[in-house]
Amino acid sequence: MASTIVYGLCMVVAWAMVLMSTNAGDPDILSDFILPPNITAPDGNFFTFTGMRVLVGSNPPPNFKVTKATKAEFPALDGQSVSYAVLQFPSGGVNPPHTHPRSAELLFLVHGSLEVGVVDTTGNLYAQTLQKGDMFLFPKGLAHYQYNSNAQYPAMALSAFGSASAGTVSVPTTLFTGGISDDVLAKSLKTDVATIQKLKAGLAPPKP
Ligand code: GLV
Ligand code: MN
Repeated sequence: MASTIVYGLCMVVAWAMVLMSTNAGDPDILSDFILPPNITAPDGNFFTFTGMRVLVGSNPPPNFKVTKATKAEFPALDGQSVSYAVLQFPSGGVNPPHTHPRSAELLFLVHGSLEVGVVDTTGNLYAQTLQKGDMFLFPKGLAHYQYNSNAQYPAMALSAFGSASAGTVSVPTTLFTGGISDDVLAKSLKTDVATIQKLKAGLAPPKP
């Protein structure tokens, strides 16, 4: 009898763990929207984000640039499981390999062309060259990149996320500025400490 109860409890715990690990994402909310403490009487402004206006008609930036509308920039998104990012690529601009731990990314190429790729958990690369008007899906949590190889024209994309705070984990900065020792990195990457230090020197620390 006791062993049946223990078995049952173990099954419940195991299922809870499986569900928790497969459902990493925004929680559902029990109200229409969430107000930050400094807003008591919301109006249309609360639901409006104007932070992308500066991009309309602007010149392409000198390097890859991402402008986000996530919960941090647009508090009305809290609890709504959506956000946007505008990605601008000058000629040769690259968004280095990274992951989003809390959401898939659906990229829509507004202008230019763009090389994109995503690597799955078995190490397969799925790459594509997008033309303007195309969409590409980067599944949740998988490492991906975007690169504008066109020597003449810039590119611009709009990315939608199924989280108000999808998070971004950069592969190069996590590896080389995350505090992992040079010895561990050299052994892991089958190289020497001097090479690791050279790679580290070229990277700025990750944003907090
Ligand atoms: C695009 O891939 C982004 O991370 O915003
Ligand atoms: Mn991305």
